[in-house]
Amino acid sequence: MYQPSEMAGFMNAMYAYNQQLKSQIVAGGTPTSLPLDLLKLHSAEMTAGKSRTENWQSFVNVFIASQKAIVDTLGKTELKERYNTAINNCLNCHKTECTGPIPKIKKLLIQ
Ligand code: HEC
Repeated sequence: MYQPSEMAGFMNAMYAYNQQLKSQIVAGGTPTSLPLDLLKLHSAEMTAGKSRTENWQSFVNVFIASQKAIVDTLGKTELKERYNTAINNCLNCHKTECTGPIPKIKKLLIQ
């Protein structure tokens, strides 16, 4: 049976969370809560054969900061732009680390 790694499970939780942010933002809402522990990105176990490559290291903190910026109610940049920046950071890492979910992640972008 397929047993997703701790990291894969966490990625799916991030996907679901951002899907919910997207509908909230499209509906004109202002998201304020970030219930995910993003530091798990530094600790979660990955699928056998995957590892925290140099590329991963170069994107992970940029991504974390951009995901946090969405719920920063003092943020000066437009909400939709902050949200799309975070999703583009998902994509930046995925371009080299794990390309399979890219089409799915692109659907999270707000057009
Ligand atoms: C720093 C790099 C990085 C960032 C940022 C990142 N990912 Fe990932 N993602 C990965 C890697 C590596 C895997 C494979 C993990 C594994 O198999 O253990 C993965 C796996 C996934 C998967 C597949 C999970 C499965 O069931 O196998 C999805 C979906 C996903 N990521 C969505 C996202 C979304 C949405 C974001 C942004 C909110 C994001 N990722 C941000 C590197 C990243």
